[in-house]
Amino acid sequence: MKPKAQPKPAAKLKPSQPAKPAAAVPDGKDQAAPVKRPPAPRASGLTAVEMGARQREISVSEFFTKNRHLLGFDNPRKALLTCVKEAVDNALDACEEAGILPEVVVKVSVVPTGGTTPPLSQATRFKVTVVDYGPGIVREQIPRIFAKLLYGSKFHRLRMSRGQQGIGISAAGMYGQLTTGKPVQIISRTSEKTQAHYFEVQVNTKTNEPRILEKKQIDWENHRGTQVTIELEGRYQKGRASVDEYIELTAIANPHVKLHYHAPDGDVKVYSRIYDELPAPPREIKPHPYGIEFGIMLKMLHDTKSHWLSGFLAGDFSRVSPRVAEEICAKAELSLKMRPRDIVGHDAEKLYKAIQATKIMAPPTNCISPIGEKAILAGLYKQIKGDFYTAVTRSPAVYRGNPFIIEAGIAFGKGPQQAAPEVQKKPLAEGERHGDHEDELARVIRYANRVPLLYQQAACATYQAAVETAWRNYGVSQSKGAPPAGPMVVFIHMASVWVPFTSESKEAIADYDEIRKEIKLALQECGRRLGVFLKRKERAKSEFHRRNIFELYISEVADACKRLKGGKLAAEKLKTQLCKIAMSRTGGQKTDEILGHQGGPEGLPDSIIVTAEGVEGDVPVLAEEPAAPAPTSPEAPSPQTARPAVEPPQAAAPQLELPLPAPRRPSGSTRAAGKKGRPPAKKARPSMKAAKRRR
Ligand SMILES: Nc1ncnc2c1ncn2[C@@H]1O[C@H](COP(=O)(O)OP(=O)(O)O)[C@@H](O)[C@H]1O
Ligand SMILES: [Mg+2]
Repeated sequence: MKPKAQPKPAAKLKPSQPAKPAAAVPDGKDQAAPVKRPPAPRASGLTAVEMGARQREISVSEFFTKNRHLLGFDNPRKALLTCVKEAVDNALDACEEAGILPEVVVKVSVVPTGGTTPPLSQATRFKVTVVDYGPGIVREQIPRIFAKLLYGSKFHRLRMSRGQQGIGISAAGMYGQLTTGKPVQIISRTSEKTQAHYFEVQVNTKTNEPRILEKKQIDWENHRGTQVTIELEGRYQKGRASVDEYIELTAIANPHVKLHYHAPDGDVKVYSRIYDELPAPPREIKPHPYGIEFGIMLKMLHDTKSHWLSGFLAGDFSRVSPRVAEEICAKAELSLKMRPRDIVGHDAEKLYKAIQATKIMAPPTNCISPIGEKAILAGLYKQIKGDFYTAVTRSPAVYRGNPFIIEAGIAFGKGPQQAAPEVQKKPLAEGERHGDHEDELARVIRYANRVPLLYQQAACATYQAAVETAWRNYGVSQSKGAPPAGPMVVFIHMASVWVPFTSESKEAIADYDEIRKEIKLALQECGRRLGVFLKRKERAKSEFHRRNIFELYISEVADACKRLKGGKLAAEKLKTQLCKIAMSRTGGQKTDEILGHQGGPEGLPDSIIVTAEGVEGDVPVLAEEPAAPAPTSPEAPSPQTARPAVEPPQAAAPQLELPLPAPRRPSGSTRAAGKKGRPPAKKARPSMKAAKRRR
């Protein structure tokens, strides 16, 4: 009965009835019900006119003021980190884009509240100052860069960079303004010949336009670069996901950067440059046809400057030659000479389908600049203590038409001097929880376009891939659903023109199959090498043990033989011969090599092995200054003028050359003597050994 009843109401409904719930719910009873007039609004309710009068545009600044958690400002500790991160990322992007080896000074200090400076653990107000010696910013752009959301140079291009949205530093400034009422202070200078410009700006959150509170020309000790100071409400706590960790991880993945970090506790650390080459500058590319969504294609069709469809396809996309354009048009049954603007509706759908059905070459990959195996090794070796290091850079791959490269690395072990095996437990970040075996689990350090990702580890494709890799195959223990166990740091980096973050605060990488597969392949290669290293070491250990037992008895045996021969035997010669036999039966020199008694690793590309005897493998010749005497004074240097200026740590060591030396360039000293410091003597060996190994 019911099926028959359905067509009727549909026919009845046709004429001119406005809102029809019956049309949406084809239920016999509902359809039969007479259409009633909607009840008159209650006295307290609003009319459409009243509601209409309340409609207002929402400014993007207002939106993000309310939703600041979307940008990484959800709690004071994270806000401090995000602020430092945005400023440092910008500084590094700007220097690299200008072809300048980056040197960045980061200073975080407590701001006194109510006339007194609270103890660090209770401090709630901080001042973050970040100085770079990069290209500087032209005067007209300064207010909008720092006090207008969604304003930047990177959004409209397809090129690998740390920033993308044009919302980083302005959001940090806005958060500062919101929590302390203080403007962002900027000093920028574009060349030695021009004066520096000083600005104090705030965002007008109603209009999302900058409000300039102060602007003047000033003398600045630096010849070129930018200094930005933001005062904000925050909280400082060392440990996981702290500013300190961000700086340390940045130094690992950016060994071409020199970083000076003045922590709020007065500690000054200098992460010296250990790789003297800028990463190859990534090229800008056009979108790949496989990667675009339907709506984007429609917009491109509308905006294109090409007059013909063939020209649009070949000119506005990468990897579409005129021949491929012809093939697409043929598949879509559209004329090559159609006007792109006329392609709408069904034609546009046909075109989109034809594009997806045509074989098109993968996008070019010169838009991505991977860190590279050598630089990863250098970074890991410098910052993390271990016995074995390895790194892998995969060939480029593609997800949704976007090219990307996965890189992975491992630092394994605790280093040969295990004098202090008691590793201090790091304090936990807010909301952070660890299992009982926290110390045993590997630490996974994640990066996207060279920027460390510190939050939402479990939601990240990189971490998932690390968990899914079968580490047991490589001699490392692992519980189900957990990362590998052991003294180990797993490094994973995704470089892409568009990293698919799971949220605007850029904390985790979305789980695309192609990405996860590449990460796993990279980790498997690292794991395989680690397995070789561990196996060899194990075998060598037992052989060495065996040899020691032989050697224990060799002199006894030789002496006994001499006695049997009535003293007519060259016992020493016999001992030497027996030692030789013991040596050859227990792996010979190989055993010694593996255990670090001599020689170097074999068959392990892009790896470093550290033993008590020295370092073997691809240790880079460090572009480093001589060791500085002692850790820098714990007293944070105070600004000399009213203007914020970060004092670089003083050191006697010679300078690394910046292309355009600034008079008050921060001088290079080694990192402050920290837990990860290495004895300088060890570094003398690598380059020789590396050369030997590279035969
Ligand atoms: N230290 C700096 N030196 C030179 N240019 C900068 C610096 N900081 C920011 N910029 C410029 O300001 C723009 C906006 O920065 P930001 O708001 O962080 O957005 P994004 O980095 O996502 O583009 C950048 O695109 C860059 O062109
Ligand atoms: Mg930025």
